[in-house]
Amino acid sequence: MADISASFAGLSLRKCIYNASGARSMTPEELAALGNSEAGAILTKSCTLLPREGNPEPRYQDLEWGSLNSMGLPNLGYEKYIELSPELKKYGKPVFASVSGLSLEDNMKIIEAMNASEFDAVELNLSCPNIPGKPQVGYDFEDTEKYLEEISAICRKPLGLKLPPYFDFAHFEQMAGIIKKFRVRFLSCINAIGNALVIDSEKEIVIIKPKGGFGGLGGRYIKPAALANVRKFHELLPDIPIIGVGGIFTGRDVFEFVLAGATAVQLGTVLMQEGTSCFGRVARELEEIMDKKGYPSLERFRGKLKVIE
Ligand code: SIN
Repeated sequence: MADISASFAGLSLRKCIYNASGARSMTPEELAALGNSEAGAILTKSCTLLPREGNPEPRYQDLEWGSLNSMGLPNLGYEKYIELSPELKKYGKPVFASVSGLSLEDNMKIIEAMNASEFDAVELNLSCPNIPGKPQVGYDFEDTEKYLEEISAICRKPLGLKLPPYFDFAHFEQMAGIIKKFRVRFLSCINAIGNALVIDSEKEIVIIKPKGGFGGLGGRYIKPAALANVRKFHELLPDIPIIGVGGIFTGRDVFEFVLAGATAVQLGTVLMQEGTSCFGRVARELEEIMDKKGYPSLERFRGKLKVIE
């Protein structure tokens, strides 16, 4: 049977597939279910300084090819996740904290506290599109650099970044140039495509309440953009492991992300729609493809996507 383990940021995952932050990862019960599942790691919902209710409902809708959400960072507050961290470690897999403070100061305070927690690593979310009045930090290159200067100076856990999708080569290059200056241990690409609009034409109305119906688009709609971001950052930053996220529903999808350069992958919309059984199913589908193709491990085809000469 093919080996689908992964290592990055000094951590070993028995399977390279785990949850995306936000998908069924907010409550102690949801985190325990991830612990008991075949997910290779546990990643929390992005936490803020204080607990948050999030945006008004309806704020998540499944769609034929994915999902639209404007959750608004509902979470239990960073202190609760730190309190849960020793419990989560008992599942014997790496445990990641997603951090999405509403300001640099909030992030600094949370990261300081994370240093003394049982979390193995931190995924700093620079890309939540759903907080009214708060632009996505990852689209502001100056701000991103300032965040990284301050945060990388105090973070004693391996630090990763959850990036928004970029669509222009100049932006990939600018962001890669900034990331290179700091000790970033992994990149999770991509967050939802922000501020998408889906319309119910029958009722002539938007489908989610916050922000006049604008929300983060996830699922199959965004897989080509996610693959492009994984590919480009892998090319520009070959020494930084890239975690692929966006539209992964099957083992074939994982195979494509690894070909593009991903070290591991996260499941978001499929986890929302199918529940934690998706981890085992997708893992088995990936193993089957690798066995058929004769690849014993992910290293054998990672980043080896061919181009047409
Ligand atoms: C949300 O809670 O609004 C989603 C978080 C994110 O997309 O980063």
